[in-house]
Amino acid sequence: MKEEFKLTKPINHIAFIMDGNGRWAKKRLLPRTAGHKEGCKRIVEVIRYCKKLGIKCVTLYAFSTENWNRPKSEIDLLFRYLKDFFNDYIQEFIDTKVKFRTMGDISKLPLDTVETIEKAKELTKDCNELIFNICLNYGSQQEIIRAAKQIAKEYKDGTLELESLNPESFTNYLYSKDLPKVDLMIRTSGEERLSNFILYQVAYAEFVFTDTYWPDFKEKQLIECLKEYETRDRRYGKIEE
Ligand code: IPE
Ligand code: IPE
Ligand code: MG
Repeated sequence: MKEEFKLTKPINHIAFIMDGNGRWAKKRLLPRTAGHKEGCKRIVEVIRYCKKLGIKCVTLYAFSTENWNRPKSEIDLLFRYLKDFFNDYIQEFIDTKVKFRTMGDISKLPLDTVETIEKAKELTKDCNELIFNICLNYGSQQEIIRAAKQIAKEYKDGTLELESLNPESFTNYLYSKDLPKVDLMIRTSGEERLSNFILYQVAYAEFVFTDTYWPDFKEKQLIECLKEYETRDRRYGKIEE
């Protein structure tokens, strides 16, 4: 019988850059969008495995501010698949107490996708087993600038004292406020860059990169990444006693 994997170091927050959908499809002589469709199936599986492992928060990078530079036909289908994904799995999220939320300016997304997302947020707002956080029209530099503008406004209005600002309190101005600190960031597809993803939040996260394309990223590949994480010694600037 297959031995069940258990985390020895608990993970509160795991973030994924889901990459390689297009290359997965190309390898199969399929249109790039077939990779996005298959990739959506991995999302729900990853959420299920993470929940089983006791992980409290999962962040997924699904659409960056730079992804608007892709052909409109690809963007339209990508958002359609995301909308279908939420319609298909919302009941499972409610039943398993998965709270859904987003980061990024979703107002720029197609209206039917926005409506589905808002409905999913509302229906899962009291769920408390796992936070499923998806980044849509998200860019980390834009998020930091948005925070800086809000801080400047509060200072001008006299509601903020600059002395009160520190690395911890600054996080209250980010989309990720009230999420646990990111422990692990996994990027699939062999690319080793952040592509404007949670630059501030990964200050002390561990990074694991895998060559697997996102549509092939299943339980086995996730466990391999978690095993890699378990070998890491998170020193936070200290030295061994
Ligand atoms: C990730 O896969 C999904 C999104 C960025 C929306 P890609 O579409 O980037 O796939 P590759 O990197 O071109 O293979
Ligand atoms: C990053 O992937 C964005 C998402 C996964 C949503 P990209 O495929 O867009 O990133 P680059 O262009 O390779 O850096
Ligand atoms: Mg890519």
